[in-house]
Amino acid sequence: MGKYHVSGGRRLAGELAIQGGKNAVLPILAASVLNSGESFLTNCPNISDTRYTVKILEEIGCKVTREDGGLLVNSNAADTFEISETLVRKMRSSIVFLGSLLGRFGAAKISYPGGCVLGLRPIDQHLKGLRLLGAQIDDHQGFLNCKAERLVGADIALDFPSVGATQNIILAAVLADGTTTITNAAKEPEIADLARFLNSMGADVRGAGKATIEIHGVPRLHSAEHRIMPDRIVAGTYLAAAAMTNGELVLTNVSGDNIRPVVAKLTEAGCTVTESGGGIRMTAPPRLRPISLKTQPHPGFPTDLQPQFTAMTSIADGMSIIEETVFEARNNHIPELRRMGADILQVNGKTSVIQGVPQLCGSNVVSHDLRGGAALILAGLAAKGKTVVDPSEHVMRGYESIENDLAALGADIAFVE
Ligand code: UD1
Repeated sequence: MGKYHVSGGRRLAGELAIQGGKNAVLPILAASVLNSGESFLTNCPNISDTRYTVKILEEIGCKVTREDGGLLVNSNAADTFEISETLVRKMRSSIVFLGSLLGRFGAAKISYPGGCVLGLRPIDQHLKGLRLLGAQIDDHQGFLNCKAERLVGADIALDFPSVGATQNIILAAVLADGTTTITNAAKEPEIADLARFLNSMGADVRGAGKATIEIHGVPRLHSAEHRIMPDRIVAGTYLAAAAMTNGELVLTNVSGDNIRPVVAKLTEAGCTVTESGGGIRMTAPPRLRPISLKTQPHPGFPTDLQPQFTAMTSIADGMSIIEETVFEARNNHIPELRRMGADILQVNGKTSVIQGVPQLCGSNVVSHDLRGGAALILAGLAAKGKTVVDPSEHVMRGYESIENDLAALGADIAFVE
């Protein structure tokens, strides 16, 4: 386990290509089990969550190789529907294997998932959807034992547009008999990317990215190639970093459409953002204006950028209000930001009233989760003096090499073992 040493005060400037999307590659790797053939995936991010997912695939019996900058998964020999508890506990997103294992084998056995500690993260919507498709799910002593002699299309109305539940239902439904309709489905771009991959394997998924998704079951899928979409959260993180340092940044391998709510808030804060030729250019002012925002399911402002934008507004010229509505406990970074001199008042655990200060001061801070850790690194870039963000393991789940990316833009940051 390492830490990040950041010396603040440098202006970030330059051009950066954004890595492939973490939240896109994980369900797509789970989907590769369904075709009993080969899946060649390019633009896969080289992050620890990808590596854990590859271990899960290998445990199931898939062969995974890195080739020509992509991952080649051969799921032909897959013969196990049980995933060991240690692997599932590393990552909450391993829950999406429920849908793909059920689709492939008519059975799945996994423990309750782990992942970032963001409060209560129930999976009732996943289980409801899979049960409606005909799965029998026995939930006993921390394990989920699922069986389905036959999965049959159904109408499934989600109570909340859960990203993971939408993905699990799609994965279980692609090889089911008949048509499945999901209403109040999650509209995140990563759902559309999953559907693009499934359709390239011969599936019939319509409406992904919208609130109603129709999945027409097909008897079998075939081998396919797919390029993973860019990571919109990594893009938003680096834009916030440049915004906090009076920076000037050009991002490539990024989709402007997918980060519209983020760009809107950066513009409100006084940054100038333009899109051209598949890239995004942003110039930040010497002092940001305060902003107010509320996290919401897509196309609202993403909860995965809330900590970074909390760090950003902590040095704005006035009072910002940030409300977290997606997760109940996503504020572990706030006490750490306060150690760095941020003036943040928390109301009812969900709303932060942030009175911007002219400058933060470097400090030793603890990273409790992936995006909170990234927010502390950003705070360190804008702070006076040295900040140590410890440990690095959460940040490494989602960023290929945050230290190299930021150093390439002129930051003084090092990863220290
Ligand atoms: C995914 C993302 C995560 C992001 C989140 C919201 C991946 C690997 N992770 O997580 O980075 O922060 O979407 O954009 O893609 N809920 C229930 N019952 C359920 C499922 C969810 O109540 O059955 C609640 C959760 O507790 C949470 C909210 O719904 O409060 C959002 O969860 P969900 O959309 O499912 O997020 P994840 O798929 O876990």
